[in-house]
Amino acid sequence: MHLLSMTDLGDAELSNILTETERIKKNPIVSRDALVDKSLVLLFEKPSTRTKVSFEVAMFQLGGQSINLNVGSSQLSRGESIGDSARVLSRYANAIAARVYNHKSLLELAEYSTVPVINALSDLEHPCQVISDLYTIRESRGRLKGVKLAYVGDGNNVCNSLILGCAMTGVDLSIASPLGYAPDEKLLLKAQSMASSEIKKYTNPVDAVTGADYIYTDVWVGMGDESEKKKRLKAFQDYQVNESLLEKAADGCRIMHCLPAHRGMEITDEVLDGPQSIVWEQAENRLHTQKAILLKLLQ
Ligand code: CP
Ligand code: NVA
Repeated sequence: MHLLSMTDLGDAELSNILTETERIKKNPIVSRDALVDKSLVLLFEKPSTRTKVSFEVAMFQLGGQSINLNVGSSQLSRGESIGDSARVLSRYANAIAARVYNHKSLLELAEYSTVPVINALSDLEHPCQVISDLYTIRESRGRLKGVKLAYVGDGNNVCNSLILGCAMTGVDLSIASPLGYAPDEKLLLKAQSMASSEIKKYTNPVDAVTGADYIYTDVWVGMGDESEKKKRLKAFQDYQVNESLLEKAADGCRIMHCLPAHRGMEITDEVLDGPQSIVWEQAENRLHTQKAILLKLLQ
């Protein structure tokens, strides 16, 4: 089984991962040595702090090993094909977590790999992040069904996985993105058709956050979008999560950000560091969910 998209998990499997995360977080000893003799290869084309370190620490705490293979230092950088690399890595390791520019590279890895391939972020989705985010909401609110989440910003990889994750768990999601930066239309329609909750798209951030229990944002210039920086900063200037936007949300609304944050751009210091922010818990939970994901795929 691969984890390239949220939809590679059934609703029950996703729910089980969230429950397993809770069990492991409360008592990490329950999963100690669960992956002895297992190895995970981390194949990253792009920078990472949280994803890479949480996978490495998770494998260590589960009794297994991780191998950090930056693409630039591998033979992939000298033209070895993704397919050949996948065939070889599958013979050494028990799973491959890959962060890639183009989602097609993940599909190719998965086609030739005989061990699970985990999407550690592509241009299309970031499922490990969103599994952790759903856990964070459940942890802070006690449930997911009926919770109102607003996503303000770029309709990017994180937004796409949130759309699918909310549809699978009954979270109502309102997205506000500038024209031209809406989430993947095909993915949105698919999520709307399978959701028991409401998945709505707006252009005005106030429309999306009115009455929201959680506001989530992400960078305006993602990895791979650097050449569009000037254009993007202009397009997103009215999409900042700040105190005046937060006032429109429900009382006690919590603030989320997958990080890294660009303070003063998509989010202000006051909001990121304020009492309603749960971003550090959200970041910590990457470690706990990573363990539950690895146990599901490698055990
Ligand atoms: N949120 C997230 O995936 O962070 P990194 O890019 O640091 O891994
Ligand atoms: N969505 C952003 C941040 C993800 C951690 C990106 O792709 O760069």
